[in-house]
Amino acid sequence: MNVVTTPTTKSVTEQVAAIRAEFPALHQEVHPGKPLVYLDSAATALKPQAVIDAITEVYTKNCANIHRAVHAMSQRATADYEAARESVRAFIGAPSIEEVIFTRGTSEGINLVRFTYGQQNLQLGDEVLVTELEHHSNIVPWQLLCERTGAKLVVVPINDAGEVTEEAFASKLSVRTKIVAFAHVSNALGTVLPVKRFTQLAHDVGAVVVVDGAQGIVHTHVDVVDLDVDFYAFSAHKLYAPTGVGVLYGKRALLEAMPPYEGGGDMIDEVSFEGTTFNDLPHKFEAGTPNIAGVIGLGAAIEWLRAKDLAALHAHSLEVLRYGEAALTELGATLVGTAKDKVSVLAFNAFGAHPTDLGTILDAEGVAIRTGHHCAQPVMAHYEVAGTARASLGIYSTREDIDALIRGLLIAKKMFVRG
Ligand code: ALA
Repeated sequence: MNVVTTPTTKSVTEQVAAIRAEFPALHQEVHPGKPLVYLDSAATALKPQAVIDAITEVYTKNCANIHRAVHAMSQRATADYEAARESVRAFIGAPSIEEVIFTRGTSEGINLVRFTYGQQNLQLGDEVLVTELEHHSNIVPWQLLCERTGAKLVVVPINDAGEVTEEAFASKLSVRTKIVAFAHVSNALGTVLPVKRFTQLAHDVGAVVVVDGAQGIVHTHVDVVDLDVDFYAFSAHKLYAPTGVGVLYGKRALLEAMPPYEGGGDMIDEVSFEGTTFNDLPHKFEAGTPNIAGVIGLGAAIEWLRAKDLAALHAHSLEVLRYGEAALTELGATLVGTAKDKVSVLAFNAFGAHPTDLGTILDAEGVAIRTGHHCAQPVMAHYEVAGTARASLGIYSTREDIDALIRGLLIAKKMFVRG
């Protein structure tokens, strides 16, 4: 285990209540008399005061560029930025900080692998494997790579519960498979994929594994060494940290062999018009002035999380999810995504209503959900729906939030169901 948990005598309900007090955004009315009920954490999570304070401190006290100057503010900003890298390393169990690359988010992490490892290693006749439940961010980069290289995109289908079975996954692997890219957790369905097992199977045919961890990093314990993944990409903003920043973990040997991604400041060793040599890892992949405050905010979010009893909080979240599934079913909603191993996501359709109408009615009651295709149009095609209403949970979510969702949906039901 690499997550530091603080022994606590508080019940999990008390822990969640204390956590809620740390999120200023939760304590507002979004419409007159309608306190916010936030059920859209899969889109982006709210930020605790500790993260807001860390960002404020950057701009009030340490507003300097990093890795470039000897003055005190720059030294402090550099130290805080690199401390955040160490926090990420410890949180995901990476062997070294050289394997932690800061990006703009999950999409950029996946695209980085596409433009470097992918361009360097794929050719006509090779295959890239994805699953049917992927977010567009883990489909389109590989489609573009296949177009460029002549490789073929192969899709592993889901079953009607929204699961990727081992049988389906294994049946699509072959010696032609060079890259296997799949989500740790589906943002549209909540399905948890068996990353460790799928990685073993992919390695057995010699493929490298790229995991979209945008949702997985939030709701599961991630240890990249135990999972043995080659690349694991995630965004900060779903992990209670700022938008516009993310992480790509990669195994050192792969990162060393990959060409640079973007050219610019900080990623070089020496530049002349005759040629350029590149910086060491991880800086080789971080061109230009990075999102300094964002990275430091991510470090603060991770330290904030590491001080929590995450195992108990994940179990609580699962309990809230099950409560929500039962309540939605009781109401007559159709759940979209009923995998046995599932976290965070309650996607549904109800009363023959368009999901956008449900979202609008709920918003009037202060309940924030996401509606639409959730950047996963192939999932919608599988279920033959235009979209879904999606309530998604965060560390602060409670049964009371679900009760508010159901009260809002009862208002919708009166509008859409006669009699
Ligand atoms: N990928 C994010 C979501 O699922 C934006 O809503």
